[in-house]
Order: sequence, then structure tokens, then C-alpha cells
Amino acid sequence: MNNDETRNLDSEAGTASVVDMHDAVKREKTLLMAGNAAAGISVLVVSAVILFVAGGQLFSNANGFSSSIYKSDFYSPEARPPLGGEEEVGADVAWIEDWMSDGKKVYNNCVACHQPSGTGAPGQFPPLKGSEWVDGGTERLGAIMLKGITGPFTVAGQSYNQQMPAWNALNDEKIAQVLTYIRREFGSLAEGEDGIVTTEMMKAAREQYADKAGFWDEASLKAISADANLPGAKVDLITGKPLGEEEAAPEGAEAP
Ligand code: HEC
Repeated sequence: MNNDETRNLDSEAGTASVVDMHDAVKREKTLLMAGNAAAGISVLVVSAVILFVAGGQLFSNANGFSSSIYKSDFYSPEARPPLGGEEEVGADVAWIEDWMSDGKKVYNNCVACHQPSGTGAPGQFPPLKGSEWVDGGTERLGAIMLKGITGPFTVAGQSYNQQMPAWNALNDEKIAQVLTYIRREFGSLAEGEDGIVTTEMMKAAREQYADKAGFWDEASLKAISADANLPGAKVDLITGKPLGEEEAAPEGAEAP
């Protein structure tokens, strides 16, 4: 018996064998529709590199997919609103802290002369720390801020003879903040004194000295009593609201 392997069926006809024809068909690649061609090796290599690098990034930065990343610096959840109509809890920062940090910003106007530590510069600029002017009442301070000082001036037993600029270009709130700052930060306050100067107090000072022309000199400042305070209500350190107002207002009334 002959088989196709050994016997050329078409040999008699002198044409190619079935075996050869099948071989040829097997060698040819099927033609694919345009767009269906296999991706080249370079695409695979590039994709592998991207996956490798991205995987590495994810591994090192995803923190194990832990939910604790939401407790990090870059996300601080807002305070939970009070439940069941509880009384509104104030901002988490007491008013006085805001007031002092604003005062510290205004104090940037003063550091060149009085120094960040409030110690001044010997012979040139008087200190605020240990100064009887800062430790005393608020009326002198308000007056100094609005009109400035010129001529010989004694602070803590030392004499100075320069000029303290007037700061009346700052609004009442800013002056009140910086005075509060220097009194609480550098002053030694009398027992029971909180050192706070309010916008209302500075407003009163501005009205009081509206007609005063030019700078103060030491003698005319000393005419103001050392412990005189500017008129105005004391305020609650937590809320910044004038003290006594809550008691005065009837239950449920709107604040004015
Ligand atoms: C250009 C320098 C200069 C700047 C800026 C300046 N001061 Fe003065 N300050 C003086 C001088 C000088 C005196 C003393 C006045 C004199 O020599 O006649 C003085 C006096 C004072 C005094 C009374 C004396 C004492 O030492 O307690 C106070 C309070 C004061 N300054 C507060 C301030 C505040 C608050 C600021 C910023 C808003 C400020 N000064 C900015 C130069 C300056």
C-alpha cells in the first residue's frame, strides 16, 4: 500500500504533491482585517515598564490602602454638628487666640524698632517689655498710637530721643489688636487685668484725640493719668462678646 507521505499522487500528472501544497498553506499567515493586527513587541515592552513603575509607586504611596490616610495632615474633617438642637458650640479657637494672633501680625509694623522680643534697641528704641507705658492704663497707649511721640522720652529709667510714628492709618481694630498683643505678650499686667483693648475702646480714643494736632511729647502724655483706661465694656475671652450682655438680653432675643 502506498500512502500520501511516500507516494506522490500527482506525480503522474507532473504537478505538486498534496503534501507540498499543505505545507505551503500552513506556512502562509492568515490575513487579518485592518486594525486587528497583533501589537508589536515594543508596545508590550513599554506597557510592562509602565505597569512596573506605576506598581512601585502605588506600593510605596498607597500606605497599604489603609483608611488611616484620611486622618493625615491633608485632611481634617469638619467638627460634627451639634446633635439634637444642643446649644451651638463656639469655634474651636477661643476669640482671644485669634485676637492675639492678629495682633502679632500687626506687630510686624513695630519689630524694626521695638524688636520681635519687645526689648527695643539700647539708646535708640525703647523696650515695650518692662515699660511703664505698656504696663499702665490703656488711655496713654491709645493716645501714643494715634499721634506718635517726638522728643526726649523716658522709658524704664532710660532716655530716648527719636520719633515714634503715628499709627492712625491703622484702623481701630488693628490698633486694638496690637495693643492687646503688646500688653499680654510683653507687659506685666496688674492683678485681675486681662490686657485686652477692644475696637470700641480705640474708637473712643480716636474721637477723644481727634482734635489733637501733631505728636505727643513726654510732658503732655504724662498729663494723662498713668492708670486711666479707655471707656468700653470688657469682653469674654472665649467669645469676644461684651461681658454682661447675655444676662441683659432676654431669653431667645437676637443679639443687637
Ligand atoms: C521707626 C521706629 C518705630 C516703630 C516702627 C515703632 N515705634 Fe514705638 N517708639 C519708637 C520710639 C523712638 C519711641 C520713643 C519715642 C521718642 O524717642 O521720642 C517709641 C515709643 C513707643 C511706646 C511708648 C514707650 C515704650 O517703649 O513703651 C510704645 C507703647 C510704642 N512705641 C509702641 C509701638 C507699637 C505698638 C508699634 C507698632 C505698631 C511701634 N511702636 C512702632 C519707635 C518706633
